[in-house]
Amino acid sequence: MASIAQDKNRLYDRLAEAIEEKKDLRNPLIEILRIAQEIFGYLPIEVQEFVAEKMNIPASKIYGVVTFYNFFSMQPRGKYTLNVCTGTACFVKGAPRLIQMISEELGVTMGETTEDGRFTLSAVRCVGACSLAPVFVIGEDTFGRIDNKDKIKEILKRYE
Ligand code: FES
Repeated sequence: MASIAQDKNRLYDRLAEAIEEKKDLRNPLIEILRIAQEIFGYLPIEVQEFVAEKMNIPASKIYGVVTFYNFFSMQPRGKYTLNVCTGTACFVKGAPRLIQMISEELGVTMGETTEDGRFTLSAVRCVGACSLAPVFVIGEDTFGRIDNKDKIKEILKRYE
């Protein structure tokens, strides 16, 4: 059985190959970071430093890009991202309370991932389902008019 260190080395090998393949693109950094996030699931500092070294650019530049774009994450992501809509309609119809209920249910705050690695709690702008406000989204599924914890519990159970 491969050790964790060997597995990790294999991931770095894949990343090194991707950098080699993409580095001559016109603006390769975002694409390379996207691939790195795909390989590792997130972009911890050590991965950023690896990219910096291979591409011969300052690690601070990588860090700047990673923190600028919200599709990059420096924390491990859960199997599912639970996005609560914080657009105007949802906000007015109780998104803050919805966030609080989901937060309590999952035991995490915004941006965090549950201990069992199932959910990352996140916020999004209007998802176009304002008539169902307040809304949250898990993958392709949209849930609206959720006003109590029992409903939330029942929905979360479907995602194992
Ligand atoms: S504001 Fe939440 S769906 Fe439009």
